[in-house]
Amino acid sequence: MQAKFDIDTGNFDLNHKIFKVISEVADEQGVEVYVIGGWVRDQILGRPSDDIDFVVVGSGIDIAKKVARRLGRIKVFVFRNFGTAMFKYENMQIEFVGARKESYRRDSRKPIVENGTLQDDLNRRDFTINAMAISLNKATFGKLIDPFNGLEDLKNKIIRTPLNPDITFSDDPLRMLRAIRFATVLDFEIHQQAYQAIIKNRERIKIVSQERITEELNKIMMASRPSKGWKLLYDTGLLEIIFPELHKLAGVDYKQGVSHKDIFLHSIKVLDNVAQKSNNLWLRWAALLHDIGKPYTKRFDGKTWTFHGHEVVGAKMIPDIFRRLKLPLNENMRYVQKLVNLHHRPMQLVGDQVTDSGFRRLIVDAGEHLEDLLILVESDVTTKYDEIRQKIMNNFKYVRQKLKEIEEKDKLRNWKPPIDGHLIMKTFGLKPSRVVGEIKDAVKDAILDGLIPNDFNAAFDYMLKIAEEKYNLKPVIAKPEQGKAENQEDFRDNGLKSN
Ligand code: CTP
Repeated sequence: MQAKFDIDTGNFDLNHKIFKVISEVADEQGVEVYVIGGWVRDQILGRPSDDIDFVVVGSGIDIAKKVARRLGRIKVFVFRNFGTAMFKYENMQIEFVGARKESYRRDSRKPIVENGTLQDDLNRRDFTINAMAISLNKATFGKLIDPFNGLEDLKNKIIRTPLNPDITFSDDPLRMLRAIRFATVLDFEIHQQAYQAIIKNRERIKIVSQERITEELNKIMMASRPSKGWKLLYDTGLLEIIFPELHKLAGVDYKQGVSHKDIFLHSIKVLDNVAQKSNNLWLRWAALLHDIGKPYTKRFDGKTWTFHGHEVVGAKMIPDIFRRLKLPLNENMRYVQKLVNLHHRPMQLVGDQVTDSGFRRLIVDAGEHLEDLLILVESDVTTKYDEIRQKIMNNFKYVRQKLKEIEEKDKLRNWKPPIDGHLIMKTFGLKPSRVVGEIKDAVKDAILDGLIPNDFNAAFDYMLKIAEEKYNLKPVIAKPEQGKAENQEDFRDNGLKSN
């Protein structure tokens, strides 16, 4: 929902039924009621929002119940400990709270002890731009109340705390991250005093739950230029505390006058590049983390810096990072892991010495995520020299084209090798293990390289051969009967064509 704000009169045009009903109930009960916080900010910024918070100078729960009754038979959820009540109306999420003297903490476990005035309530909010209210009582209906000049700060794009920032941040240290998140999402600057207070109070972030921290990080990730937030986290010293692996990427080493690029700055640039092309949160995480393994593989070979195998090391780090950040340990994590693992492969296909099988293998390994992988790889080109950039991009166009051709020709999109891990285990009486994976990959590679035909019998015989030769394994069952698989395109005739 969006309401109009008249900057000259300082009045909001609130014509939605809900505001009228609340206004009537407030006057009947003789209490002050205000719209407050993020919704007010977002209306002035012209950002539609359906999440509306109301403050009552009195009991928020009572007013919520009365308003809900008048709007129809609406179920109200009451959180007595927090003094709040919520309900849904049309698409809107409506929340009522009593004005309080204490710090405003939505998920504080402490019960609210002291009721306060509107001014008390606004004092204890996080930022001036979030400490504005709109009056709903009839006499002043629609009037903006802005004791800390939040409107001015919105205009000048400034994040500033209503009170001394040391007090505001110690009331709730998460606000240090919220400052950085708002600065990133809205492209605002953090006021100097608040910025210094973040540096000073940074250690206090340790008392905040990981879930709340990660919620802010995800919001930073979804900004149009997320690098701004990660840079602020680095500069204020918060990054080192909340995300040491990422912090470790920062800085440059010199040996014999040769340096490598700052991997942290590179990673957040890649993230910005991806953000321009995709709103997929997990592709953005993959961009941020694609080089996370580099510090552990860094070597100077006498001429240049190398990072051999950093993608494998990086991919292995992802589960621990996701676990610690309390990011989901599901297919999203496996997706990030896969992209980190594969991010070097597409560039290796540049050049005319590359065989079709290299392309096929990438198509099969990337599967449904091939396009996302290509976006990541193109975003990984961060050289500031336009000419070099252009050349790399042109070469890569050829890779894209070739991938498309081969995929169409060989119908590889949903291709699966005719032999899976279960059959390997059954055939040799094995338990799940590394050997099973190795045999499976050997069979897959032999088909994609055009060494053997793409059919069950050939794959089964090849599996027996490899298992015997490499692992001295003998089958414990006979070869099962197998119908013709859906896609038995033979890759042999074009296996090494472009070589
Ligand atoms: N608030 C606060 N300190 C916090 C969290 C919230 O002072 N740590 C206050 C702010 O006034 C904020 C309001 O509570 O505007 C509502 O909080 P929330 O819904 O979390 O944030 P919004 O400002 O609405 O913005 P967003 O939904 O983008 O988080």
